[in-house]
Formats: sequence, C-alpha cells, structure tokens
Amino acid sequence: MVNRKEKPHIETRGLAARLYDCLILLGTLGFYQILIKRVVQDMSINPEDSILDFGAGTGKNDLLMLKYLSDDGSITALEIGKEMRKQFLKKCGRRKNVTLENFRIETPLPYSNRFDKVFISFVIHGFEQVKRKKIIKNAFNALKPGGRFLIFDWNEFDLKKSGPFIRLFMKFIECDEAQDFIQRDFKEILSSLGFKNIEEKLYACGRIRLLSGEK
Ligand SMILES: C[S@@+](CC[C@H](N)C(=O)[O-])C[C@H]1O[C@@H](n2cnc3c(N)ncnc32)[C@H](O)[C@@H]1O
Repeated sequence: MVNRKEKPHIETRGLAARLYDCLILLGTLGFYQILIKRVVQDMSINPEDSILDFGAGTGKNDLLMLKYLSDDGSITALEIGKEMRKQFLKKCGRRKNVTLENFRIETPLPYSNRFDKVFISFVIHGFEQVKRKKIIKNAFNALKPGGRFLIFDWNEFDLKKSGPFIRLFMKFIECDEAQDFIQRDFKEILSSLGFKNIEEKLYACGRIRLLSGEK
C-alpha cells in the first residue's frame, strides 16, 4: 500500500518529471492524449491570441495550442520545475513566439492587461485554497478586459458516489489537495473574484471540465 506521505506533489520533480509524458500516456492508457487535443480545440483560440500558460509542464499542451496560432500569436509559459523546463525547451525552445519564464504562479506576477487567454491545466487543484485564489487573481490581472481564464481540471463531484477507478485514482495517485478541490464551487469562486460569463465544457462523464470565465 502507498503511504499517503509518498504521494506526488504538484511540483513535479526528479524521475516523475523526466518521465512525465510517458507516465501520463501509460497511466491513462492514452486517454489524456486524446482528451487534451479536444480541450485545446474547445479553447476557441484565435490566430493572434497571446496566451499565458500557468504550470506549463513539458510543453506538450503548448505545441497543440501553437497549431491554432499564427506568427502574430504568442505563448508565455510559466514553469518552475527544472526537469519540466528542460523538456519544455526541447519541445518549444526554437519557436520564436514562445517564451518560458521561471515564475511561481501563486506569487505576484509582472503582467497587467496583457493576455487574451490564461490557461491552467491540471495544476490549480494541487494548491491549498488560499493559494488557488492568489492564482486566480494573478490570472485576472494578467488578462486584457474581455480575455478568458480557462481552467482544465477536475470537476466538482462527490467521490463517495463515484466508481472504483476514480476512487482508487484519487486515493493512491492524485495529490491530497485534489480531494479538497473537487468539493469546491469554482463557478462561484470565479464570479466572486470578478469573472463573468462563466462557461464549462465537460469530459470523462463529467468528472473533468474546462471551466472558463471572462474578465
Ligand atoms: C501536473 S503537472 C501539469 C503540467 C501541464 N500543465 C499539463 O497539463 O501537462 C503540474 C505542473 O505545474 C508545475 N508547477 C507546480 N507548482 C508550480 C508553481 N508554483 N508555479 C509554476 N509551476 C508550477 C509543475 O512543475 C508541473 O510541471
């Protein structure tokens, strides 16, 4: 049995970071690969969008987003993990319209009214609630008026009413903070922090969603 203290933390490091894309591919039996393509399609990216990606990881999502951008569009990726940054640079380092920054997404960021979209994929659930709110405020500040904050992550659901696969996944694989995350009303939280026109797109029988709000 896995000791809960040994469970992975959202700051992905070491071997888990070096093998991250492989582990996700195997751990989800290829499902995540298919899903993330659909999610990026659902982001309604315009060719000239400037996108800020919080906790960009290895850059595989950014490569998918780049397919929808022209040379006038751009991605600024924030990532603190050494191994993740290395993989990111291998994948996206040569792209002129991609910048990688070593900023912590829960600390004050040097962006104001600058981006059309802020994207965060499977990162925010890993923080305690106070820090989650700081991340949302950072997204709000970074967006231009009319820009959208897109959160791709777990939906709100009752774990006790879920099937065995999801219960085992949450217990043994996901970080501890995820169980708190799925109990929170993030539509309400986004509204309370200034976002309007909240929308959601559901995936995986409603367990995962792309939640977004407009500044
Ligand atoms: C579960 S991975 C998700 C990576 C990517 N967004 C994806 O969907 O494949 C979480 C990522 O967030 C990064 N991360 C964790 N804490 C962070 C922080 N405080 N600031 C910036 N990045 C962070 C980790 O290093 C890791 O690459």
